[in-house]
Amino acid sequence: MFTTDRLILREFKDGDLDSLLALRNEPSVQRGVTSQPTVPRPTKYKEFLKELAENSTIWFTIILKETGGFVGQCSIKATEPQKNRDAVFGISMFPEFWGKGYGTEATRFTVDYAFKALGVQRVSLTVLEGNPGAIAVYKKVGFQIEGRKRRANWVEGKWEDLLSMGVLDQEWAALYSKGTPS
Ligand SMILES: CC(C)(COP(=O)(O)OP(=O)(O)OC[C@H]1O[C@@H](n2cnc3c(N)ncnc32)[C@H](O)[C@@H]1OP(=O)(O)O)[C@@H](O)C(=O)NCCC(=O)NCCS
Repeated sequence: MFTTDRLILREFKDGDLDSLLALRNEPSVQRGVTSQPTVPRPTKYKEFLKELAENSTIWFTIILKETGGFVGQCSIKATEPQKNRDAVFGISMFPEFWGKGYGTEATRFTVDYAFKALGVQRVSLTVLEGNPGAIAVYKKVGFQIEGRKRRANWVEGKWEDLLSMGVLDQEWAALYSKGTPS
């Protein structure tokens, strides 16, 4: 278990699955994390979420220190741990917790931990262009836009692009040479 200023980042527990399904069933969350159509996911979907958590290289269930309440999750999957040393980051939180800096806090800690603990040389992610809050967080912590898949998602009656973002270990080290803010 780890802590940042305001958050507890702990292991996945089976007891998280109800909250994780409810999180995935928040339309604004689902809209951000997948380019599949936004639809209610049934109870059985918990099996997929459990697999997702258990197959992550690092999974953090995000808890608010102050209340002990469930905020969301973030994860790192070392997709190419050997030769290319690449890893993929993901995060989702209930909307009531957005805009308070928690996303930045969890992302910064988790990416930092991936560099330090896994020895990856880059962290990657994809984000839909209609998700300006997430893009702002990623840019703020140090990710750069590396690519753009045009017309990747048909949503709300129009097309949107999918951005690839990444940060390299040396960029991270330069940004946080004086330590990672908690
Ligand atoms: C993405 C997510 C984790 C961000 O968490 P958060 O706690 O709201 O993030 P923070 O409060 O740390 O920062 C949000 C930043 O986005 C900015 N922002 C929010 N809405 C914005 C908008 N419409 N346009 C531009 N910037 C915006 C905020 O101003 C803030 O930046 P600032 O601190 O420089 O002012 C959260 O919104 C979430 O869980 N979304 C649903 C799931 C999701 O989309 N995950 C990402 C998949 S790639």
